[in-house]
Amino acid sequence: MSTEQTNQSWGGRFNEAMDGFVEQFNASVDFDRRLYRQDIAGSIAHATMLAEAGVLSPEDRQAIVAGLEAIRADIERGTFDWKAALEDVHMNIEARLTANIGDAGKRLHTGRSRNDQVATDIRLYLREAIDSILETLGRLQAGLLSLAEREAETIMPGFTHLQVAQPVTFGHHMMAWFEMLDRDAGRLRDCRARLNVMPLGSAALAGTTFPIDRGITCRLLGFDRPSDNSLDAVSDRDFAIEFCAAGAMIMTHLSRFSEELVLWASAQFNFVNLPDRFCTGSSIMPQKKNPDIPELVRGKTGRVNGNLVALLTLMKGQPLAYNKDNQEDKEPLFDTIDTVQACLRAYADMVPHIEVKEEQMRQAALQGYATATDLADYLVRKQVPFRDAHEIVGKAVKHGLDTGRDLSEMSVAELAEFSPVIEADVMHVLSLTGSVAARDHLGGTAPNQVKEAVRRARNRLGLT
Ligand code: ARG
Repeated sequence: MSTEQTNQSWGGRFNEAMDGFVEQFNASVDFDRRLYRQDIAGSIAHATMLAEAGVLSPEDRQAIVAGLEAIRADIERGTFDWKAALEDVHMNIEARLTANIGDAGKRLHTGRSRNDQVATDIRLYLREAIDSILETLGRLQAGLLSLAEREAETIMPGFTHLQVAQPVTFGHHMMAWFEMLDRDAGRLRDCRARLNVMPLGSAALAGTTFPIDRGITCRLLGFDRPSDNSLDAVSDRDFAIEFCAAGAMIMTHLSRFSEELVLWASAQFNFVNLPDRFCTGSSIMPQKKNPDIPELVRGKTGRVNGNLVALLTLMKGQPLAYNKDNQEDKEPLFDTIDTVQACLRAYADMVPHIEVKEEQMRQAALQGYATATDLADYLVRKQVPFRDAHEIVGKAVKHGLDTGRDLSEMSVAELAEFSPVIEADVMHVLSLTGSVAARDHLGGTAPNQVKEAVRRARNRLGLT
């Protein structure tokens, strides 16, 4: 069989050329060409190590490095001719190298397999992706901090069960999102630390007979250490799954945040205004301004969650070591990277420009008896047992509902009907500013606590 009819890198033992459809079906080059930079970096490191180990001549190494760099330039210029017949990114590059430099190109794959090669490439790619996602995430966090600082004193109704519960400050609410994203950043950093282990040198599954020095490739590629078990290193994709899980968590947080922004931007809530440049209109209803960015982010959570399930399912039935199933790891992984990065970017751009409607939120907090707990706490401070206080305030609320007024709209004498301990000092307690200012402890909603929380967070992020 001539090499024109079979894939030249493995065609030796075959009697017929690959079926045309199977060739397409088997190929991954359409999506794994994304790994070209990492693949070339890995090959350069491998060739350099082989030369140091005396397996490759310095001349061959030189030719390989120059050849790979020329190919990289070609790819970046858009003049590289990717071929499905050559299956994947690895063989496309290797075939071109050999075509360009001759026998030295054929020596590159000594002591290596596509199995350790691809496992190395993906780790290098994901490492970079995590770094850039962390950067965008940090930008969003910084935006939340400025918004929280700006609106540290702004009062809004806090909700439980989406019913008005107690007044909170808008800054405190923003800091809740900050905290969630901060844990997300921690998850990404944990994932990065675990994935930064080098599979190269594991070869197909058992290691290689050549006197390789994995310390050299490890150093050249910036890995923390070489992997300890070749079977594990070429086969498991737990690092990709872990990343997708962290991505799903980020999206879940952004989705909840989105849900709030969609509600808040509605005429019914009217708490915020999203800048026009992050919204769209309707082709039929001239009055419409739709919060598309939050809606899209909420919607994209579905595909990221789906990618996580796809990878878990891809992995679950695989015996050791490498199986071709793993070729299916890339699209869900790349899609998760792209989606998470894009959603974080949209949020990082938008969040600092959210316009807060202070008066609307204050009015909303004045409805729904948001300071009822403050009145109960007031009674407790005057020695009324809490359960009795709860009952007393319940009756006062019922009176308010019957007469269409908030607690703060009743006179002291009227309130004193429900308990003789109620005196003039109750009015401060029932005010919105009094209510939030009273929750003045670590983690509480008081404006000065929010400012403190922003300061601590800035320190944590190294923003001061
Ligand atoms: N394209 C393959 C992948 O993504 C590369 C590894 C192929 N290895 C093999 N033994 N066929 O997994």
